[in-house]
Amino acid sequence: MVSHPAERQAVIDGCLAMNRLGINQGMSGNLSHRAGDGFLVTPTSMAYDAMTPADIVEMGFDGTYLGDRRPSSEWRIHRDILRARPDVSVVLHAHPTFATALAVHGRGIPAFHYMVALAGGESIRCASYATFGTQELSDHALAALDGRLACLLANHGMIVLGVGVGQALALAVEVETLARQYLYAQQFGEPVILPPEEIARVAEKMRRMKYGQPVDDGDAPEDTARPRH
Ligand code: 13P
Repeated sequence: MVSHPAERQAVIDGCLAMNRLGINQGMSGNLSHRAGDGFLVTPTSMAYDAMTPADIVEMGFDGTYLGDRRPSSEWRIHRDILRARPDVSVVLHAHPTFATALAVHGRGIPAFHYMVALAGGESIRCASYATFGTQELSDHALAALDGRLACLLANHGMIVLGVGVGQALALAVEVETLARQYLYAQQFGEPVILPPEEIARVAEKMRRMKYGQPVDDGDAPEDTARPRH
């Protein structure tokens, strides 16, 4: 019997969904989930559709791991983010085409669209380049994620954080969509960028409305239509 079976299955389901949703392909990308005193992370260089719960690697925050599979080469990113960010339990890394197309120019996503606020700020930053799997890359990623739930990685891809796998996947699709829209919009030059005060207003409205979160507790958030009882 493996430890944390539900979280292991959530990691596998999240990986399969990344490829199905077109935000990742092949063996690139990796996913982690907080579990017990440490976390679970995908094994390195293994096709997602071949993974079983026992293949998911259990790690401690001290960098040690259990089992026969080696953890993702990006285990430091997962370890450092989960250690520094008690507000999230899932770290998703992928190489989606449009986000990566911006990141290879060292470009993040400015507030050309109000949905940028979903990632927690007035822009989605692009972390500076460092070789994959290094502590330097993890340090750059953590800095770019300060106060945010998503960032791009120069010449590499994206990172998205979530309370659960579903939230991380939904935001990853949103960030990739924003990257695609931003690239298309640039066909006509640099688009209009919303000022920080408007993004602050949007962020506050999203918070009040619980925007982007399914409301299933029967509790109507503020600033929305009320359910009829
Ligand atoms: P792993 O297979 O080691 O997780 O590497 C994939 C990747 O995307 C590295 O950045």
